[in-house]
Amino acid sequence: MRDTLILGQAFRGGGAVDPLGAVVALTDDAEICGCNGVCKGKITGAIAAKGLTSLDDVRAHTKASNSCGTCTGLVEKLIMATIGDSYNPAALQPMCKCTDLGHDEIRRLIVAKGLKSIPAVMQELEWTTSCGCAKCRPALNYYLIADWPGEYEDDAQSRFINERVHANIQKDGTFSVVPRMWGGITSPRQLRAIADVADKFAIPTVKVTGGQRIDLLGVRKEDLPAVWADLNAAGMVSGAAYAKGLGTVKTCVGSDWCRFGTQDSTGLGVRLEKFLWGSWTPAKVKLAVSGCPRNCAEATCKDIGIICVDSGFDVVFAGAAGIEIKGTEPLCHANSEDETVEIIAALIELYREQGRYLERIYKWAARVGIASIKAHVVEDLSKRRLLYERFVFSQGFAQVDPWQERVNGKHAHEFAAMAEFGLPQAAE
Ligand code: SF4
Ligand code: FES
Repeated sequence: MRDTLILGQAFRGGGAVDPLGAVVALTDDAEICGCNGVCKGKITGAIAAKGLTSLDDVRAHTKASNSCGTCTGLVEKLIMATIGDSYNPAALQPMCKCTDLGHDEIRRLIVAKGLKSIPAVMQELEWTTSCGCAKCRPALNYYLIADWPGEYEDDAQSRFINERVHANIQKDGTFSVVPRMWGGITSPRQLRAIADVADKFAIPTVKVTGGQRIDLLGVRKEDLPAVWADLNAAGMVSGAAYAKGLGTVKTCVGSDWCRFGTQDSTGLGVRLEKFLWGSWTPAKVKLAVSGCPRNCAEATCKDIGIICVDSGFDVVFAGAAGIEIKGTEPLCHANSEDETVEIIAALIELYREQGRYLERIYKWAARVGIASIKAHVVEDLSKRRLLYERFVFSQGFAQVDPWQERVNGKHAHEFAAMAEFGLPQAAE
């Protein structure tokens, strides 16, 4: 039954199914949320006992739908089946418990009222808590960075650990370090520097990632600035693998090497990555450029993809290959590299301005509509140009290597080793 609910009617061999009836028919011990091991009975029991009326309430009391989100549709159907019309999923969802306002309204007011700091937003929009929470602070920090480039100063304390220390925390408390490799291209000098760093800091695992880069896993937090200093010295900057921003631009070898290559896909990938890096976005953004429709760089499941063809560049977007799998949507055909770069920068700027914090491009596109995005980025050339110019302006403040800053001492307290106490001191 759960398979039918998740995988659809095709799984049960076709035939009409009443989705609500199917949920009602589940037994109480049927598992709804695999991530958190929550069964139907626990959810319906909590709804009835505690008078829960929203998805957020159910998440808070049962943990169902609180991790990967795959079960969210099922949980919503259970709420509908339990409380009927009192559940209105279309009702405005507040950003968090600190406010009654939703993301879009808060963002509109940030601009309309000229609010340029987190305390100003909280005071003017009557936050119910004094300092906000782990949901609203990172979202506000992103909206303020995107809306006031050059004026708002990033608030590190409103970021989660990975973005605060510019590395990804691992299950044993060590970190992973991923230097940028523009368009997946590296060199003997960079590879030697990576090997030297791995030896010098006894880094236990060196792994090639799916995004055509090299991941150094198992780095101690206090070693991070010294590791970055050595990588910086070899010309490498942060790959931002931890960031809600541009991740990789995956490429194939294209016309430089491949018999089938129609354009220089590697060169375009390098150009795009050098132009786009550093920008903060609502969620991570991954690109790929394939040199022909054989699509060796797998561009058709990325946030933004380019398929090179003899006549130019087919730009596609809104793909996903994580929790959800979704092929991209066609955006447009561009005749030149310059036009392709302008279209992609405009698309990313529109996403930066309209996307809700943590909303990937494919979810933003589904919410606002592909037609509306095309109208801004493809059909109205003056709108495209303005979006492009706003993106270029904000990049003037964004392209600073965070590793270099920390090598030079910024936020040194984050990386200081904890003091070691002997037993007598610890007992005091
Ligand atoms: S996508 Fe086309 S050009 Fe690129 S490596 Fe594959 S076959 Fe060659
Ligand atoms: S299956 Fe419920 S959050 Fe992942």
